[in-house]
Amino acid sequence: MTSSSHAALARSFDRVAAEYAASRPTYPPELFDAVEELSERSLTGATVIDVGAGTGIGTRLLGERGARVTAVEPGAGMAAQFGAALPAVPLVRADGNALPFADGAADFVTYAQAWHWTDPARSVPEALRVLRPDGALAMWWNMPDLSHRWIAAQEARLAERCAGYRPPGFPQTVPGLLAHFAVRVRTRSIRWSRRITVDDRLRTLATHSFLAVMGAAADPVLRAEREELRTLFPDGTLDEPYVTNVTVAHRA
Ligand SMILES: C[S@@+](CC[C@H](N)C(=O)[O-])C[C@H]1O[C@@H](n2cnc3c(N)ncnc32)[C@H](O)[C@@H]1O
Repeated sequence: MTSSSHAALARSFDRVAAEYAASRPTYPPELFDAVEELSERSLTGATVIDVGAGTGIGTRLLGERGARVTAVEPGAGMAAQFGAALPAVPLVRADGNALPFADGAADFVTYAQAWHWTDPARSVPEALRVLRPDGALAMWWNMPDLSHRWIAAQEARLAERCAGYRPPGFPQTVPGLLAHFAVRVRTRSIRWSRRITVDDRLRTLATHSFLAVMGAAADPVLRAEREELRTLFPDGTLDEPYVTNVTVAHRA
């Protein structure tokens, strides 16, 4: 992928920010238990910088765990949704490659579904700089659970029909990438699902970067997916299965 198409995908969320806020899944409570266990630190009372905060899905849950969160989001559309959802939470318009915070300012730097949009050569040293010496960098992704045949088949169709498609497996490379930065890395995977309508599944899909950049060209792709899902789930509801992969890195 060229750097300009990567940049276009990274900015695509602003076009679909309202739909993103309305349709994207949350994260399971076990994720935050895992962040605490793998980092050996409590989120309660912790100072957290949540980077790529988007519409605030991860930020809200970190706050509910008792963390004092400052959000970082580069995109205007996503930041507007964030401000509407979480007006009391401080939000800084910046990106993970250049964090506007002092050295040692945070107990945690978190990336919910966002670290892959940064340049790791810059974003990891930046996270380590703004972390206290015993702080932790935590990043996680809700991945489609490909052990379900209908999900694997849908991903295969999307890969064929969408030029900017990114395979859902790329976060599996995260521990290897982090190994270059002299950090200790721990990971965990959590399986879960949510019950939603076929229409909500299609709304969620439409907020993925590779479909969001297509504009009106995404319509026939989504119409074809509606037909497939209507056949598979005639009552109009489905269990949307996820594996949430979390990686926590500490200074070694
Ligand atoms: C998939 S969304 C995740 C939003 C939110 N954290 C969540 O859990 O739903 C990815 C977010 O990363 C942001 N982003 C893109 N490039 C970024 C960068 N270089 N640094 C930080 N965030 C970035 C996008 O604007 C978008 O809001």
